[in-house]
Amino acid sequence: MRQCVNLLWLLLCCSGWYTGSGFVVQEITGCTFEKENATFYYYMTFNRLTAVQYIPTEKIFIHCNEYQCIDEIRMVATNITVKLNSKPGMVSRMQQEESKCQAQVNEFWERTVERRVQPSMKVFLPDTVFEGSIPQLVCHVWGFYPAEIVVSWFLNDTILVRNYTNAVPVGDWTYQIVALLDMRGSMPGNKYTCVVKHSSLQDLMTEDWSYGLTSSQIIKISISTLVLILGLITLIAAFVSWRNAKKSGYIPIPGYNEGN
Ligand SMILES: *[C@@H]1O[C@H](CO)[C@@H](O)[C@H](O)[C@H]1NC(C)=O
Ligand SMILES: *[C@@H]1O[C@H](CO)[C@@H](O)[C@H](O)[C@H]1NC(C)=O
Ligand SMILES: *[C@@H]1O[C@H](CO)[C@@H](O)[C@H](O)[C@H]1NC(C)=O
Ligand SMILES: *[C@@H]1O[C@H](CO)[C@@H](O)[C@H](O)[C@H]1NC(C)=O
Repeated sequence: MRQCVNLLWLLLCCSGWYTGSGFVVQEITGCTFEKENATFYYYMTFNRLTAVQYIPTEKIFIHCNEYQCIDEIRMVATNITVKLNSKPGMVSRMQQEESKCQAQVNEFWERTVERRVQPSMKVFLPDTVFEGSIPQLVCHVWGFYPAEIVVSWFLNDTILVRNYTNAVPVGDWTYQIVALLDMRGSMPGNKYTCVVKHSSLQDLMTEDWSYGLTSSQIIKISISTLVLILGLITLIAAFVSWRNAKKSGYIPIPGYNEGN
């Protein structure tokens, strides 16, 4: 409210000297930021020239000097700054605005540059594309943010290759990485594990691979087997109860089967 009064004052006082031409009085507040540092600003302008300005670092309002504005405006601006500076409420309001500005910046930063997105991963042995190509086990890790990541290969729980870190941007503010493992000379029975270390994860993310059945195939087969067994049990139960029902339903004619 006080600011509006001040603005009105500036408007009324100064418009007199600009009779015949248009004039604009503006109050401008805003927020600029560079990285995590926010800067709050407040200006009162007359015809787009700054008359009064708030200096956050010194917590005071200042008026334009003789090079920045004409004497008449400077006199009004001087009176306004005297009033604004003598009102403790004004400076604390500016400080509130400033901290709001910083909070906004922090929130913006958290949702963009500072955010953490967990990766997804898949380990697979691709079908050989052409004769004589080197068989390579692929660990594909994708959808993570930020780019810093460490992917390693383990064989039978001992480290084999470490420190794949060359993540590439996907274009949607996430990254992906491919870690290849030369499978020449590998033995059936070996267990390979791709291990991912990323700031979005509390623990390491891992996926095993070995020749033969994958864990998801094992689960599918287990479920099929279970269903088959349940089916057999139902069939046997049905057969048994059918036989029992037949027995109890059989009423011998007295004297017929006694072996006379
Ligand atoms: C942010 O402010 C601090 C202290 O004022 C300064 O040391 C740092 O360099 C600033 N950072 C940027 C990106 O401007
Ligand atoms: C500034 O304030 C003084 C006293 O507070 C007053 O005499 C003077 O007229 C004011 N100047 C303007 C331009 O309003
Ligand atoms: C691989 O990373 C580990 C920590 O993750 C580090 O101690 C080691 O020096 C790195 N090795 C190479 C060859 O970069
Ligand atoms: C890894 O473990 C499997 C089964 O325990 C074994 O057959 C294989 O030889 C081991 N491989 C190496 C390289 O130690």
